[in-house]
Formats: sequence, C-alpha cells, structure tokens
Amino acid sequence: MNIENHVIKIYNTGNSSVLNYEKSLLADPLSEEVRIKHFAIGLNFIDINMRNGNYSIKSYSPDSKVPYILGVEGSGRIESLGKNVNGLKVGDRVAHCMNLGTYSEFMNVNANKLFTIPRNISYEIAAASTLKGLTAHYLIKELGQVKKNQIVVVHAAAGGVGSLLCQWAHLIGAKVIGVVSTDKKVARIRKIGADFYINSRKQNFSNEIMEITEGKGADIIYDSVGKSTLQRGLSCLADRGKLVSYGNSAGLLEPVDISVLKPISGSIICGGLLTFIKNKHERKNNAEELFNLITKGKLKVDINQRYRLKDISLAHDDIESRITSGSSIILP
Ligand SMILES: NC(=O)c1ccc[n+]([C@@H]2O[C@H](COP(=O)([O-])OP(=O)(O)OC[C@H]3O[C@@H](n4cnc5c(N)ncnc54)[C@H](OP(=O)(O)O)[C@@H]3O)[C@@H](O)[C@H]2O)c1
Repeated sequence: MNIENHVIKIYNTGNSSVLNYEKSLLADPLSEEVRIKHFAIGLNFIDINMRNGNYSIKSYSPDSKVPYILGVEGSGRIESLGKNVNGLKVGDRVAHCMNLGTYSEFMNVNANKLFTIPRNISYEIAAASTLKGLTAHYLIKELGQVKKNQIVVVHAAAGGVGSLLCQWAHLIGAKVIGVVSTDKKVARIRKIGADFYINSRKQNFSNEIMEITEGKGADIIYDSVGKSTLQRGLSCLADRGKLVSYGNSAGLLEPVDISVLKPISGSIICGGLLTFIKNKHERKNNAEELFNLITKGKLKVDINQRYRLKDISLAHDDIESRITSGSSIILP
C-alpha cells in the first residue's frame, strides 16, 4: 500500500534554494527491500556536492530519476519487509549509508545494505556516524595504515569525518596535526586528540607542517579539501609519505604536478567509501569494529547541529559556510 511521505527533492542543481520539502507517495517495498521509518538522517558534504552539481547523481545512482530525493545516510526502524527478505523483522533498528534518498520520513532500502544498530547506540549516533565512521575506518586502516608515532595531518579536522580521523589516529598512537579555519575549531580539535594545530586562515599550513616536523614532513596527510590544499600537501610529505585525497570540499579538483613525489618515493592515494562496502563481510566487520569503538567510548561522535527536515536549506548553508563542527543530523 502506498503511504504518504515527506521528502526533500531537487529538480535541478544549484544553491540551497533548489531543495524542496514536499509530500510524496512511497510504494510497498520490493521483494528484496525493507521499508524504514527514519528517526535520524546524516548530513554529509557529499549532499552539497550532489545538490550543486559537483558530483554527478546519475553516475552515483544510475537508476534514479529527476526529481532526486537527496541524502545518503539514515537510521530508523523497519516497518515492513519484502517477501524475500530473511533474517530481519519489523521493529529492527537499522542504519544505512550510500543509498540515495535518505532525506525522507520513510524509505525502501535493499535489505542487504543495512547495518543492525547495537542496542547501546542511539538512532541519532548511528545516523551521525555510519557513513563518516566507515569512511574514517577505511582511511585509517586500509589506505593510511596508520602506525604509532607516525605524523598524521588531518585537514578539516573539526568536521564530521575529520573529527573521527583525529581521534582514531590518536588512539593508534600517531602524532596528529589538525588543520582548521577558526580558533573555535582549534579549541575543539585540541580536545579530541590533535597534538598540534594549524589555523589555515592565519598560517601557511605547508610551512607549519615542515616546522612542526623539523623539516621531515608528514607521513600521512588526509585531504578532504582538495582544490586549495592538494598541490601544497605534496610539498610537505616525509620520505615515503602518503597524501590521501578523499574529498573536494573547496570545489572541483585541479590537476596536480606529481613530479615532486619521485625523489621522496611519495604517493597520492584516492579513496571512495563505495569500494569498501560492496563486500558483505567486509562491510559487516568494519561496521562492527566502528560501533564497538563508539560503544566503548574510544571514538566520540559529537552531534553539534540538529535540523528539522523542512529546514534542510539552513543545514546546507551552514555546512557550506564552514560554521559546523563534528556531525550534523536531520530529524524527519
Ligand atoms: N571519499 C569518501 O569516501 C568520502 C566519504 C565521506 C566524506 N567524504 C568527503 O569528506 C569531506 C568531509 O565530509 P564531512 O561530511 O565530514 O564534512 P565536514 O568536514 O564536516 O565539512 C566540510 C569542512 O571542510 C572544510 N572546508 C575547507 N574549505 C572549504 C570550502 N571552500 N567550503 C566548505 N568547506 C570547506 C571546512 O572546515 P574548516 O573550516 O575547518 O577548513 C568545513 O567545515 C567532504 O569533502 C566529503 O565529500 C568523502
């Protein structure tokens, strides 16, 4: 039976004014799907890039059609199940990410893409940490393979993914240099594990990294900013250093000159979460490890902004204007 649903749709790309809060009808779940009632929705910078056209929605989700329902992270309770779904039941608490359409009260999701939320993790924390935490997981453990005493630089260190990277690298025993744009954010990252901090509006981050490391450079740089930081990051890597590029919050990436990497045996590695959640076992194991660290209090997920679904434009404006910190969630 179709049910009434409130969603955020976009008909074309542009600034936050293209976000429309609308009533819509949701059909029954298909045989492999479950219907979820969302209790919390994650706000992610990728939502901005999809809305403004920097990230092609069509290439991300080829089957979806205009108008698109935005959003790629959510948590909630299973309301009904398709006839071929096994191992789940009505009432189960689940989270999901990288499925387009989470800016919605209700959503049908393929049952294989769900994560069961542990009992001691709330819907809000699950929506604030599933996508960002699984990203931090692969960045730290797979791409960076961070080790004790390494020098790890985190750009946008006070942000959603950045806050988790700082904490996780610190937990492993790395020396963390956080780069942020305000003194308020400096105060935040000092609390969550940054050993050194750089205010990018007042300081030249590459010079500062060389100074902090006494000319050695960083072993790993996590770069989610891109345009203004990628090329300069290559100039402050240590021998065999890695620059891990996983985002472009400052706009579309520009070509970089990699000739500086050969003399130092340095590398650029690019990462995308989708490649780490395709395999069922890998996805399950990574989520278990992430939720375990959150449950034990070793990784703290700070929800510093909450918005109503109908106020989604404000949420987009805030994250774009760099005033948010930690995670932001949307309440349907
Ligand atoms: N590849 C993947 O698998 C993957 C997965 C998740 C997220 N991401 C990417 O990771 C990044 C972080 O995502 P998030 O959701 O956690 O966002 P976020 O870091 O909480 O917010 C973006 C931050 O980027 C910094 N920034 C620098 N230049 C900016 C500019 N010109 N405009 C706006 N922000 C700017 C700001 O921090 P300061 O003001 O402190 O500089 C801002 O707070 C995004 O680029 C996102 O697309 C990638």
